[in-house]
Amino acid sequence: MPVPLFDTHTPLMPLKEEILERIGEVIDDTRFILGPNVSAFEQEFAGYVGADHAIGVANGTDAITIALRAMGVGPGDEVIVPSFTFYASAEAIPPTGATPVFCDIDLETFCVTADTVRAALTPRTKAVIAVHLFGNVAPVAEIEALGVPVLEDAAQAAGSISDAGRPGSLGSAATFSFFPSKNLGGFGDGGAITTSDPDLADRVRMLRFHGSRDKVTYDHIGYNSRLDELQAAILRVQLPHLDAWASGRRAAAGHYAAAGLGDLVALPAAVASCDPAWHLYVVRDPRADELAQALSAAGIGNKAYYRTAVHLQPAMARYRSAVELPATEEAARTHLAIPMSAVLSAEQAAEVTQAVRAAAQGREPTAPGPAREAVA
Ligand SMILES: Cc1ncc(COP(=O)(O)O)c(C=O)c1O
Repeated sequence: MPVPLFDTHTPLMPLKEEILERIGEVIDDTRFILGPNVSAFEQEFAGYVGADHAIGVANGTDAITIALRAMGVGPGDEVIVPSFTFYASAEAIPPTGATPVFCDIDLETFCVTADTVRAALTPRTKAVIAVHLFGNVAPVAEIEALGVPVLEDAAQAAGSISDAGRPGSLGSAATFSFFPSKNLGGFGDGGAITTSDPDLADRVRMLRFHGSRDKVTYDHIGYNSRLDELQAAILRVQLPHLDAWASGRRAAAGHYAAAGLGDLVALPAAVASCDPAWHLYVVRDPRADELAQALSAAGIGNKAYYRTAVHLQPAMARYRSAVELPATEEAARTHLAIPMSAVLSAEQAAEVTQAVRAAAQGREPTAPGPAREAVA
């Protein structure tokens, strides 16, 4: 039985009629830019994450640039960012005029920690981007305790929760992506910035709208970066279902554990006091590329998302420093995403686990086995 890497179609099918109705209403209303659905979604999403403000923007990459600028980041500043993340987490920094400074991650959780951030701090550090990678929740309070403001990159963490609150309510500000494959995904690009700081929210609102409040006076060099009314209408239908979908993702992780996957490869660990809505389910294996080939041959979806860490990407060459990133390099070499969705069943998890087991058994006997290395 083939198992796809993700399934965004099945959870949306019961909502199709309602979504079509909402789209029809937007067409009749004709307020396509910053209309009533954007305002309503902003209120509903802020309420969901537990922040005072949510501001819709065009995508999760713009969200980071705009949030950093609203936090006062500019030329001459440094922004600490993990290198094991989607490229956009770092790509969004240079447009502010600031310099990305790469830090390491914790290998078990794939997230930054206070220690990995501390190693990259300098007097020029203006902010830290804590990426809640794969739906895990980075320890924001511990990083803030270092005395530096935190921007949460929560693109992959809608639906996750920690004892301190939801991603989006933990740092000075947070950014989200509503790219279609995300835990809360639109039917095109979209993003949002959340914050409980009213002045920061005000600056974000201006920056997304050409640096203006009224399209008459322009106070800043801003952006044309707004969440579309159509996307907001679609996201409003989905938001009430996000928690149920998040539970489905947690259940899927439980199915993998119950099937014994942890005996074969290293499973991702949740950060302390957090309950991730796994966006991607990423395991580690010392021979990840061989495992990928075997899974593909068995019809099991898989993907090495970040085989080349961001600091080693050609465009980032000028920002490389002497800082060593051993966990990042190991994660880049050994990670592999396997099927995950809100509707991944116990049978599918067992099928994937069986394919991983078969791949391990098919290996050269002299080679080190994944279970031994994963546990070490
Ligand atoms: C961790 C992370 N940050 C930022 C982004 C950028 O979001 P977008 O694709 O909406 O620009 C993404 C998603 O693609 C992401 O996964």
